[in-house]
Amino acid sequence: MSETKNLWGGRFTGAANETFAEFNRSFGFDRRLFFADIKGSVAQANGLAAAGILTTDETASVIAALGQLAADAESDPRYFDGSGAEDVHSFIEGKLVDKVGETGKKLHTGRSRNDQVATAFRLWIRDETETLLNDIARLQSAFVRSAEKYINAVLPGYTHLQRAQPVLWAHWCLAYFEMLDRDRERLTQSLGRINVLPLGSGALAGTGFDIDRESVARELGFDHVSRNSLDGVSDRDFAIEFTGAASLVMVHLSRFAEDIILYCSTEFGFVELSDAVSTGSSLMPQKKNPDSLELIRGKAGRVFGHQMALLTTLKGLPLAYNKDMQEDKEAVFDTVDTVRVCLRVAAIVLDNATVNETQTRKAAETGYLNATELADSLVRQGVPFRDAHEAAGKTVVYAISQNKELGELTIDEIRQFADAAGEDTLAALSLERTVAAKSAIGGTSPDRVRQELRTARRKIDELNLDE
Ligand code: ARG
Repeated sequence: MSETKNLWGGRFTGAANETFAEFNRSFGFDRRLFFADIKGSVAQANGLAAAGILTTDETASVIAALGQLAADAESDPRYFDGSGAEDVHSFIEGKLVDKVGETGKKLHTGRSRNDQVATAFRLWIRDETETLLNDIARLQSAFVRSAEKYINAVLPGYTHLQRAQPVLWAHWCLAYFEMLDRDRERLTQSLGRINVLPLGSGALAGTGFDIDRESVARELGFDHVSRNSLDGVSDRDFAIEFTGAASLVMVHLSRFAEDIILYCSTEFGFVELSDAVSTGSSLMPQKKNPDSLELIRGKAGRVFGHQMALLTTLKGLPLAYNKDMQEDKEAVFDTVDTVRVCLRVAAIVLDNATVNETQTRKAAETGYLNATELADSLVRQGVPFRDAHEAAGKTVVYAISQNKELGELTIDEIRQFADAAGEDTLAALSLERTVAAKSAIGGTSPDRVRQELRTARRKIDELNLDE
């Protein structure tokens, strides 16, 4: 037998149409499941051994051969090239039979490619999720580094992209740290649902042999076995959930990209990107473009698309397995590749970004970002907030007409609109006081932010990332 022979030849007298055969093949992409499928196959061999279907010798030779296949694949970069196998499962079975002969043909006893592929796919996503968790943490670490490096930098915070209130650069960094922390939490939680063994579901009805599925699950590190064979072979919730969690990572990366794209424009001038992550224009000599970030923003769309593709593929499928489900692989593979590279590039961009602290401070000091502070200081004199808001608004209109910032007005000018304004009012409008006032948990006061930053730093250090 060779890996190009179909696994289902007996029923057929006619050959497959060549175009269809090519259309039907998934080996071009599902070869990425090779090592996961070898692992699943070793567990299958042990399961069959415990059930008395493979002898001890047969089991040993099958497992040794599977190990040999893995070693061959690892050492030979062209191992998969030129194979006409239908999919990774027939590829492995063909290679196994080539190595051990007839015994190799026993491995598929009680197993279907339906429970086999679901098993390999879960193993693969489980491993990739672990790696992604680290990639996310590495980007979190870059945010912590930037926050520490620019611990005194202040910039305008925005709502509606209008200057709103000043915030610390470190506060901005830690906002992304939080988003990424939730992403890690979400992926970690989804591992619980990925880590369920479908093997032993057979094609759809269960296996006809006395396989101890729980022991197979233990061997593969699965926490549970699937409780229903129809569901076991047709459930792809885990893949959809994975692309969903990945989509949220991309939402966060895309918002980060958008922030920095704005900040490095001349209009903002808050951040200077390194040449290492920028490109120039073939026509305009002055240009320095943030392509790295635009690509991150752009690639978010393809990850969302993958999730929508999976949802759409699954939604009308009758139980149990249908070939439509072969479409699940490329969606997930590309999701993993895309999210991973975007996380890595984002960390590089951030590590090489320079914050122009003079410029961010200047921007934070102009445009009446302390108007709320004026209202709050009146409230502290006993004025109801709604009245204080009105008085501060009128003061802003006056200041605009005088072409002055609030802090440049005299106390008498302010008292025209807010007679409660006290001696301290002008001092309270300083940038430092404005920022320091936001001292409740979650606020941007330097004390709070330093405290949160220490917590974030500890969290990252505890992960012992190899960076
Ligand atoms: N390549 C197939 C997939 O990825 C494997 C399962 C095929 N099962 C079947 N009964 N044709 O879904």
